[in-house]
Amino acid sequence: MLPPMRLEGRKALVTGGASGIGAAIAARLAAEGAEVWVGDIDRAGAERVAGEIAGHAVDLDVTDLDSATAAVAAAGKLDVLVNNAGTDEFGFFTQTTPEQWQRVIAINLVGVLNCTYAALPAMQQAGYGRIVSISSEAGRVGSKGSAVYSAAKGGVVAFMKTIARENGRYGVTANSIAPGPIETPLLMGAKELGEIGEKLIDNMKGMTQLGRLGRPDEVAAAVAFLASDDATYVTGETLGVSGGLGMV
Ligand SMILES: NC(=O)c1ccc[n+]([C@@H]2O[C@H](COP(=O)([O-])OP(=O)(O)OC[C@H]3O[C@@H](n4cnc5c(N)ncnc54)[C@H](O)[C@@H]3O)[C@@H](O)[C@H]2O)c1
Repeated sequence: MLPPMRLEGRKALVTGGASGIGAAIAARLAAEGAEVWVGDIDRAGAERVAGEIAGHAVDLDVTDLDSATAAVAAAGKLDVLVNNAGTDEFGFFTQTTPEQWQRVIAINLVGVLNCTYAALPAMQQAGYGRIVSISSEAGRVGSKGSAVYSAAKGGVVAFMKTIARENGRYGVTANSIAPGPIETPLLMGAKELGEIGEKLIDNMKGMTQLGRLGRPDEVAAAVAFLASDDATYVTGETLGVSGGLGMV
């Protein structure tokens, strides 16, 4: 079934759009009529995805405010910002290093601050904006082997709630999505840990009520909803797309 054209005339920037969930979000927003800018540190990947959806690729390192500002400027007046770029470096906390913590926080948390900082003033001026950040159920319930990642993702949820509180008066909504285990290169990277990694993935699958990994397009459908005018009265929320893993 074809998706509805809820985003016609809207312009969207998807960070980390070259792979996995971001690529699925870019495709879904484009299929619903948006003009999509795919921002990624992986230029070739961004160009590939943009080429598939008749969108645009833009260089973006979310950890660098100048790069975020330049990417937002290249896209022009944005209606939708999807903060999706993220990474993890799996390992039990005491076996990780401060350098790893910094990398994980820089991409997953500071990256969301940078891109939101770059995009928000024009949205405030326009009196319209949709910001959707991809957090994680790890940010709500924790995740073995991902302590710092969980902390960063919890920070994203609190940050989006505050942006929602500060920007309702400008017609800007801000929401988070908390995916569970989704079959992408990021999650499958845990397998590099060998048997422990396989166990981590199996464990997460077992924690879902649906007993399976999720697909990137299942996350993308939730993003499209929050980015559309079907969600005009939804802000400050965190929507779990996790097969019931994070329900309280
Ligand atoms: N896969 C899962 O199980 C899962 C679960 C919960 C949340 N998430 C979140 O979903 C988002 C997407 O993850 P994914 O699984 O698709 O991962 P992925 O590794 O497939 O894709 C991540 C993308 O981000 C890009 N990226 C990395 N660092 C960047 C930077 N500094 N600037 C710009 N782009 C950068 C990568 O090049 C890549 O294209 C992440 O925020 C992740 O934390 C994933």
